[in-house]
Amino acid sequence: MTVPRSEYLSSAWADGIFANRVLFITGGAGSIGSAQTRALVHLGADACIIGRNVAKTKAAAKEIAKVRPGARVIGIGAVDVRNFEDLKSAADHCVKELGGIDFVVAGAAGNFIAPISGLSSNAFKAVMDIDTIGTFNTIKATMPYLIESASKNPNPNPAGTTGGRFLSTSATFHYTGMPLQAHVSAAKAAIDSLMGSVSLEYGPYGITANTIAPGAIEGTEGMERLASTEISRDQRTKGVPSGRWGTVRDIADATVFVFSDAGNYVNGTNIVVDGAGWRRQGGL
Ligand code: HXC
Repeated sequence: MTVPRSEYLSSAWADGIFANRVLFITGGAGSIGSAQTRALVHLGADACIIGRNVAKTKAAAKEIAKVRPGARVIGIGAVDVRNFEDLKSAADHCVKELGGIDFVVAGAAGNFIAPISGLSSNAFKAVMDIDTIGTFNTIKATMPYLIESASKNPNPNPAGTTGGRFLSTSATFHYTGMPLQAHVSAAKAAIDSLMGSVSLEYGPYGITANTIAPGAIEGTEGMERLASTEISRDQRTKGVPSGRWGTVRDIADATVFVFSDAGNYVNGTNIVVDGAGWRRQGGL
């Protein structure tokens, strides 16, 4: 069954704004990543979805391609973002098949609930490696292609098209600290810092580098783990000033904004999409 547009994209955006653009996304088969990909592909982009699980990644690519006749969406599996060479091959393959890379989303993440007393050094490291080193590897593997994209599509571009955009998935945990999420909180803080440095070093090339920090998002693996009982679900909903959990569409719309011409001057920053949740109750 085709996923209706209203589930992954608002009516604010015009069809075709991302024509001739290519997205490279890690974690693109996940709930947030597939909505981000679906939205960009709907608006004209082609995409390479990168994941660890081959079958899941290829199935997601096939499904997402249905949103637009003629869309090219490739699933590249068996890629562990902790391994730079895996990512480098995936980026090269993407360029060979689709002609370039204009937008990069580093969305792959690892998470589990554990108190500090229950975290081994290796457990802490596993999440730092997937989230932070994985983001670094993704940036490093795709940077030459983004520089090329930005040089072809300068920012701002009188022709109205853009290129050379990095986006990482962050969180709000580290603004206050977060019990049971020390590992994730530390990893996301490092990602925010890393993206700031990318914006400083590569802004002069016309590249932008930003992060999106989602709040509690319906239907995600992360929230299934973090709010697994009705009580904690109700408590979390009451703590969100906007009165509801977010949707994957909220994150996809913010992604479209930062990659669109409307986002040309948004660089080196973090966009929090959480209904003001962190201001009331900390990270989530
Ligand atoms: C304590 C745990 C643990 C747990 C694993 N470990 N689960 N420790 N409590 N619940 C420990 C292991 O014992 C081991 O340490 C170390 O972590 C590495 O575990 P492995 O299973 O060997 O690692 P690996 O196979 O690489 O798996 C990584 C993983 C796993 C992070 C543990 O959960 C994973 O692959 N996740 C990917 C999918 C995922 O998590 N998606 C959710 C993303 S949601 P020892 O010492 O025994 O060797 C998300 C939302 C963030 O990120 C919040 C946003 C708002």
